[in-house]
Amino acid sequence: MSDQYAVVGNPISHSKSPLIHRMFAQQTGQDLDYQTLEAPLDGFEQAILTFFAQQADQPAGLNITVPFKQQAWEMAAQLSGRAQRAGAVNTLYRDESGQICGDTTDGVGLVRDLLENQGATLKDARVLILGAGGAVRGVLEPILEQSPALLVIANRTASKAEQLAQDFAEFGELRGCGFAEVEGQFDLIINGTSASLQGELPPLPAGVLKPGGWCYDMMYGAEPTPFMVWGEQQEAGRVIDGLGMLVEQAAESFRIWRGVRPQSAAVIDAVRAQLG
Ligand code: ATR
Repeated sequence: MSDQYAVVGNPISHSKSPLIHRMFAQQTGQDLDYQTLEAPLDGFEQAILTFFAQQADQPAGLNITVPFKQQAWEMAAQLSGRAQRAGAVNTLYRDESGQICGDTTDGVGLVRDLLENQGATLKDARVLILGAGGAVRGVLEPILEQSPALLVIANRTASKAEQLAQDFAEFGELRGCGFAEVEGQFDLIINGTSASLQGELPPLPAGVLKPGGWCYDMMYGAEPTPFMVWGEQQEAGRVIDGLGMLVEQAAESFRIWRGVRPQSAAVIDAVRAQLG
């Protein structure tokens, strides 16, 4: 039987991960099967243990998505440093002794998409990130590792942004505030809020985007998000959605499991074609 992999969430039927990982497997010549696995809301841990028990004698791994990333973090016997600090796990695998280990690849995915696919430079850039929930916590460390001149976290609830800035202070020049308190202009604004799901736009002060600065939304879909529409109105140098981040985080999970990092460009194109 092929080695077994899956993405676990609830709901999960619309996940693009099977498409992405099957293309990676084909491209790299790996014999593996990748499915969706819907865990009951009150039965996540059991679903994980059952999955790995069923694959006792062969390599296996899981991606974890909404709403289980924190539960995966809690149940993993070992965590990578970046997952420990992110407070969330999107990749589970087993080490040689059979222990379930957790990692997070979302931040690496975002940074690789920005640097390698889009040609952005984060070093010495002024970066503004919107939101202070799990999605933003998960990407702060890899962004700060690129040595931006300043990273400002702005959030509707200012205290959450301030807390995040404190938690990651050791990694770089970081500040947290409410949207109205954002000062100065930024080379790059990243939307990590879930405001788009309600068709809303985080209330940014006018003039926060430098002329020619870039806008990046961690979400993606068939239509541009309200934040992407705002970016176009600001005449951003570039407006980018989160599809490349989705594929790059998957590529990093694949590397963790299989030891080979797939090429992402053709896969990004294929997933985009499916969005309609
Ligand atoms: P996720 O895992 O996607 O980060 P989350 O932890 O619930 O989800 O965080 C959602 C983020 O989107 C928060 O930063 C939230 O702001 P609050 O902390 O003030 O709740 C932000 N958010 C959600 N809806 C928003 C809206 N309509 N406008 C601005 N920010 C919004």
